[in-house]
Amino acid sequence: MINLNELKKSKVFCIAPWIHLYALPSGDVFPCCLNDTKLGNLNNDKISDLINSPLIKKLRSEMISETKPEPCYKCLDQPLNDWTHRNYLNNRYLDKHFDLVKQTSKNGEVKDFKFVYWDFRFSNYCNMKCRMCGPEYSTKWYEDIEEKLQIQKIANDFDIFLEEIDPYIKDIDKIFMAGGESIIMPEHWKFLDKLINENRCDDILLQYQTNLSKLTFKDRHVFDIWKKFKNINICASLDGSHKLAEYIRHGTNWKKIEENIFAIQKELSNVTLSVSITVNLMNIHTLVNFCKYLIDIDIHPNEIAFNVLFYPSFYSINVLPQELKEKYTNEIEEYIFSLDNQILINGFRNVLDRMNSNDKFDLEFKNFCHYSNELDKKRKETTLEILPHYEKYWKIT
Ligand SMILES: C[S@@+](CC[C@H](N)C(=O)[O-])C[C@H]1O[C@@H](n2cnc3c(N)ncnc32)[C@H](O)[C@@H]1O
Ligand code: SF4
Repeated sequence: MINLNELKKSKVFCIAPWIHLYALPSGDVFPCCLNDTKLGNLNNDKISDLINSPLIKKLRSEMISETKPEPCYKCLDQPLNDWTHRNYLNNRYLDKHFDLVKQTSKNGEVKDFKFVYWDFRFSNYCNMKCRMCGPEYSTKWYEDIEEKLQIQKIANDFDIFLEEIDPYIKDIDKIFMAGGESIIMPEHWKFLDKLINENRCDDILLQYQTNLSKLTFKDRHVFDIWKKFKNINICASLDGSHKLAEYIRHGTNWKKIEENIFAIQKELSNVTLSVSITVNLMNIHTLVNFCKYLIDIDIHPNEIAFNVLFYPSFYSINVLPQELKEKYTNEIEEYIFSLDNQILINGFRNVLDRMNSNDKFDLEFKNFCHYSNELDKKRKETTLEILPHYEKYWKIT
């Protein structure tokens, strides 16, 4: 007999395989963004088959029998706190959807899977080519690679896909949209129109991860759609400002980004605006100043998140030379001392842990120089003009 309180105390249980699917722009589907078990591909497989595919059934059975599912290690091996994905999902959904877990067959099958939380990246169509990103997520990146690639889409015919998802629309609680850049994707607009037609504007949490470069598509303004929804979180990916932003996130016009931030703040009371900073070797030197800037323009400290980069490993902040690690550690410590927001403090502590975790300078800094130099040539940019503090360590072999 499955017991709710036991599940809440479990070290391995997560509600995700009962209520959620994650799809990459290629159409590949996974149980969540931290689990690499490919369940199938939306271009070839039906959602109705994916939700009871052999691998997701195995995952459910293991979780119920308190066996650690191997592919969940990225989440299960982390300390349990508010940021842990399974903790967030269990807190938000376990009580409400416990009945789904209770009706699970011995082999892990669920007859009445409820598609409550969606994370679908409709395509890799994007108007930027951020240095730490790549062609998997951005068509703009195709300009800088030799290989001739086609745009990736979760469904070749999106109208047929919309018909297929029809039965699941009623169960949606939350949608996370990224990409590529969703606001400039035709699929995004068709999908939102469908939600509006189905009267789902009042009770869905709509969440975006966006480069915030554009708020229009053809003759439509996204505010006209966003105003119809009650609850929206726009998470802007911003890694620095002005020239640094334009260097890291090629395709950025910083003035336009600021304009878009201010327009959201002024015109949309139903939107929470947050910022995700991908912390890496190219922006660690301005992290404190950039946070001060964000707070100055009324981004609440709770809404500033650090996405500390792990890959490509030569962009990781543990590649910094020791003397710069010490300099930035002191700067961050001093800033933390002046802060009274625990969420932001914890974020900075996480950055410090990563930066000081391993000394990868000898191994990786030359790779950073080499990769940056190659991109500079293709983009007609000069890394050392933007990051002059690396001049004394710079080595191109
Ligand atoms: C792939 S983008 C897609 C959504 C949208 N285009 C955007 O930039 O927000 C999603 C997030 O991944 C981050 N990102 C890009 N490259 C990364 C990397 N190598 N490691 C970690 N995060 C990365 C981006 O900064 C962004 O916040
Ligand atoms: S805007 Fe997003 S998807 Fe596009 S290149 Fe940048 S990080 Fe990648």
